[in-house]
Amino acid sequence: MSPQRSVFVPAYAKINWTLDVLGRRDDGYHELKSVMQTIALADVIRLTPTEPGTVFFDCDVPELGVQDNLAVRAAHAVQHLALSGSPGVRIELNKRVPTQAGLGGGSSDAAAVLVALNALWSLGLGTTELERIGADLGSDVPFFIRGGTSVVGGRGEQVEPLPDGEQLWLIVAKPPIGVPTPAVFRALTPDDFGHSVASDAIAEATRNGDPMPFDLLHNDLERGVLHNFAAVAQAHDALRRAGAPVVRMSGSGSALFAPFRMLDAAAEVYTSVAATGLPVWLTHTIAARAVHGEPLAAWQSAEEELRG
Ligand code: C5P
Repeated sequence: MSPQRSVFVPAYAKINWTLDVLGRRDDGYHELKSVMQTIALADVIRLTPTEPGTVFFDCDVPELGVQDNLAVRAAHAVQHLALSGSPGVRIELNKRVPTQAGLGGGSSDAAAVLVALNALWSLGLGTTELERIGADLGSDVPFFIRGGTSVVGGRGEQVEPLPDGEQLWLIVAKPPIGVPTPAVFRALTPDDFGHSVASDAIAEATRNGDPMPFDLLHNDLERGVLHNFAAVAQAHDALRRAGAPVVRMSGSGSALFAPFRMLDAAAEVYTSVAATGLPVWLTHTIAARAVHGEPLAAWQSAEEELRG
């Protein structure tokens, strides 16, 4: 068997430049408007063709190595669509994106598996179809099908791609606690629901090719999380004390991010925050064109080999 028969695919995390919560819906979810952005921090997934009809899964974080993992559910969701019978895949997941952080790691894993298997198994699904399949797996999955910068609406399933905007350095810090998304949304009161002013402004700036207006970054979930989770408030203070001019929470937290135009400024803040012992990354935005590579050739020759 050829040693080249696996492919590695990155599953990039995201931040929310903005997250406006517009109201509670009848289905229990919340109506959102958010400008989302893929970032270079990524999980790594290795896909290997295996016996027809099977999906095997390994993960280096034992508590995530379960059969209801979103990456596994993504594979099951498309396995029956292959024309060549039901192909098999082994999914190995190297978690690098912190979980319960609001960085979308699990959703990105699912999207990366959908996109890769669509290509590797020649399923012929278009972006809209992949987004629809993704929406059944989780609210953030549709965004990750394309990645880059998008305005997201509804509960997350309406994705409007934006042109790739200003490419920026980012510091991402992870307070030593995870924040459960359902609890954060449940704690909202009608006073927290507002308009999509921030998302509309950032989307407009991006469409116009303007520099990212850092002062307009906004997250409706941030106030409640900073209030209820002292560790997040402390991490926020640590970033500010280290000199980050703007600090925002990503998604429902607990991760915080700070954007920078210049690497030297980002590096200075990184060094200072790292010295406090807080887990921190110096990373950057990832443009849509860079999100999904073309891992095809190795896979196709491997499948041919399996067929003998
Ligand atoms: O769709 P997903 O399973 O990722 O959502 C996790 C939880 O986050 C939901 O069960 C819900 O409590 C909350 N949520 C929400 N409104 C959204 C997205 C998520 O209330 N638009």
